[in-house]
Amino acid sequence: MPPVNRREFLSSALAAKSYRVLPHWLSQIAPPLAQASHAPGGNQPTLERFVDPLPILERLEPIARSKNSSRYRMTMAECTHRFHSSLPPTRVWGYENRFPGPSIDVDQGHQVQIEWRNRLPLRHLFAVDPHIHGAMPPAPAVRTVPHVHGSNTDSASDGLPEMWFVPGESALYTYPNRQRGATLWYHDHALGITRLNVCAGLSGFYLIRDVQERRLELPDGPYEIPLMLQDRQISPSGELLYKPTHDDGLELPPGVWGPEFFGSFPVLNGAVYPYLEVEPRLYRFRLLNASNARFFQLYLNLAASPTDVPSYVPFQQIGSDGGLLSRPVTLTRLLLAPGERADLLIDFSATAGKTITLGNDAAAPYPGWGMGSLHAPPLLDLMQFRCAHSPSKVHTGPLSAPFAPIERLDPALATKHRDFVIIERMDEKGRSLGVRINGKDYSDPVTETVKLGSLETWRFINTTEDAHPMHLHLVQFQVLYRQGFNPEEHRKGNLVPVGSQRPPAEQEAGWKDTAVVLPGEMLTILVRFEGYTGQYVFHCHMLEHEDNDMMRPFIVER
Ligand code: C2O
Ligand code: CU
Repeated sequence: MPPVNRREFLSSALAAKSYRVLPHWLSQIAPPLAQASHAPGGNQPTLERFVDPLPILERLEPIARSKNSSRYRMTMAECTHRFHSSLPPTRVWGYENRFPGPSIDVDQGHQVQIEWRNRLPLRHLFAVDPHIHGAMPPAPAVRTVPHVHGSNTDSASDGLPEMWFVPGESALYTYPNRQRGATLWYHDHALGITRLNVCAGLSGFYLIRDVQERRLELPDGPYEIPLMLQDRQISPSGELLYKPTHDDGLELPPGVWGPEFFGSFPVLNGAVYPYLEVEPRLYRFRLLNASNARFFQLYLNLAASPTDVPSYVPFQQIGSDGGLLSRPVTLTRLLLAPGERADLLIDFSATAGKTITLGNDAAAPYPGWGMGSLHAPPLLDLMQFRCAHSPSKVHTGPLSAPFAPIERLDPALATKHRDFVIIERMDEKGRSLGVRINGKDYSDPVTETVKLGSLETWRFINTTEDAHPMHLHLVQFQVLYRQGFNPEEHRKGNLVPVGSQRPPAEQEAGWKDTAVVLPGEMLTILVRFEGYTGQYVFHCHMLEHEDNDMMRPFIVER
């Protein structure tokens, strides 16, 4: 029997299910509600929503500091963390014993050195699949290598997946922070077990601030809140679980790779379903999707229940992965894929005394294909904002000050074009065996060598049925356009574009280091390889995909 694709397999498997016509917004969320009993991790506790305050992440203090540089120590260790007040403490892996790790917060041009210390136990928190690249014996189960996502830094400090080190060892990395102010983040990147290490807790914020941002006098102090969005599975006894699923929702035995991991609880700054008391004034939220595989389609909702017709509260996006946009963009919904960040302004002054829910109606896997195929538990509401009646101090900034224009990269100056075809290999049941870029494994010889300072166009051609957030190390790039292509022709070896070339939406037209390519679509980005020579990687930021084997190296040379 020839391999079937997932859509054919699933539609035949699901043909018998009933089908109701629903309004668009509800059709995205209704099927998983109906299927909740089949959801993975069905033996997970029911947790009361909005009873715990949102944790405010602490900043890490340097252990040494001079005018132009600071040195930090970041220790990775097993520790306990309380995800919810009605759960017992959970065993996790933390940086500095925290989940998420403490934030690094520095000014542009201030050099940072971090001594990353692995003090984890010798046994992994989760079962390791020994068939995945880099995780095969005799590789030790517990290996770590930290990476600052979005950082323009030397290859030796970038945290290449194979540069892992074991418990008892450390690495000293240097980050020059010469780039624009931006919401970056750090997370583990060890070859073949990134999905497990990050799920266990190894991630945190890394903020760079610059003069341009200061001039805007954005909300700061208690009114500037980094917000890490994740999903997790937690057992009734408080155990953190890593149970990936197949595309049809089938759970995999422990220690077997699966194409997606979805948690049944939203975890924001380490808390399940938290709430935040806010004043009726302007706030800045720096959002990061640090989930393994879950996309979020976010909105602020005044409706009392997530199944009521939503009543949207608009907000403004002022920055993307690589820092501020050229002007604020007003939105009611925001798609945030794993790895992506969004810098937001939310004005609560019009909603004094009201309660707003941060809602999400992204399908999992995203974007989903039709009614019955959504298998993961829906996370319809993530957290609550409770707005007080009067502010302690009104914020009178910031939008009077102009944003600086963004340099537009000119595609006419690109000296090379590269195509990357994304293919998911399936078994005869339509289940994933892994995803590849141009049919290559990570360990295959380097095929992308770029010239330092040169501009290139890279095009990702997605033949799979999932969206993939594509991420490049070292650089911030610009999205040029997206376009469909004819899949039948592509199977015959011809790339036939379909439809027009769609430029990025305004909120995506700034600097990015991670961008989504939808199924049946091509994503073309413009990249200038600046700063350093040496080896780097690019990959899908769904960590299950990255680990098996949707990652490739590239080399920058003089
Ligand atoms: Cu956020 Cu290569 O990673
Ligand atoms: Cu992917």
